[in-house]
Amino acid sequence: MLQKATAEAKSNIAFIKYWGNRDAAQRVPLNDSISMNLDHATTTTTVEFDARLNEDQIVLGDAEAQDAAARRVVAQLDRVRARAKTETKTRVESRNSFPTGVGIASSASGFAALTLAATRAISLELNERELSILARQASGSACRSIPAGFVEWIAGSSSAESYAVSIAPPEHWDLRDVIAIVSAEEKRVGSTAGHAVAATSPFLAARVSALPPRFHRVRRAVLAKDLTLLGPALEEDAIELHLIAMTSRPPIFYWTPGMVRVIQAMQRWRADGLAVYFTLDAGPNVHLICESKDADQVATLARAMPDVQRVIVNAPGGAARIVEETPENRTLTNADEH
Ligand code: PMV
Repeated sequence: MLQKATAEAKSNIAFIKYWGNRDAAQRVPLNDSISMNLDHATTTTTVEFDARLNEDQIVLGDAEAQDAAARRVVAQLDRVRARAKTETKTRVESRNSFPTGVGIASSASGFAALTLAATRAISLELNERELSILARQASGSACRSIPAGFVEWIAGSSSAESYAVSIAPPEHWDLRDVIAIVSAEEKRVGSTAGHAVAATSPFLAARVSALPPRFHRVRRAVLAKDLTLLGPALEEDAIELHLIAMTSRPPIFYWTPGMVRVIQAMQRWRADGLAVYFTLDAGPNVHLICESKDADQVATLARAMPDVQRVIVNAPGGAARIVEETPENRTLTNADEH
């Protein structure tokens, strides 16, 4: 029997950020978060269980995975093997639709696609919630790349209670994330390391206790498709994530001069009447959030800036799903249809 499956998953951008864990080993976060899947940031992963293999073979992009990256993938395969009660090794091939080395986080889409492909290949019947929980254990934000569109991650207080659900499908709101790729001047510190030191910031506790009203504002804004309500809240939250990072011990500084110049330019565009707001990830790129009617203009303005290497425009993306390829046709099945 062929124990092989291919899955694809979208990356996501958080409007309310996940930063800091209640349980680091299980990646149970301190706070609820909200995100939008990105339709132009896809990871496609094939997993094949093969009894002839002595160890997992993992190819990410065009190269064999090394060291920490390989260990993280194997750890997730081990979780799947433990559930399936098998010791069979795998062949894994994973590819991103977006360019690597430009600071777009691939762990969310990567671990969501890996989790779905591996569980399907070994015939584990997991529903969307179980997939989200399992993906979360590999990379927190990956749990939000399992459901479709606009997604809420319920923090919960234990692993079994911590998972993501869709609050609105992709077609609910024609929002855009225009990613301005800014040249990275410093090497990125991984988010796992960031979560680990977040509690050393004297401001983390203040953030977590003050967050619920902002979370509900963002949730309401998404449901009501109200950009003027969403925009200020998502800017506040992005700044706060970086405030925590910068005041952690040791401090983590993701900001670069180019990034600040893009944010300041965007503030001028907004003062001139363009409805656009920014958010940031744990990296130097600026995510410009606007409605589809303004996306061309925002992209053109961003592209014209010397600090911007390239621009990637994303609409809301769908759920993680199995890609079934037969010689005659290629059909797509939703993650939660099995
Ligand atoms: O899932 P991780 O461990 O890569 O953490 C993601 C952290 C941020 O991208 C900065 C915020 C978020 O909620 O996605």
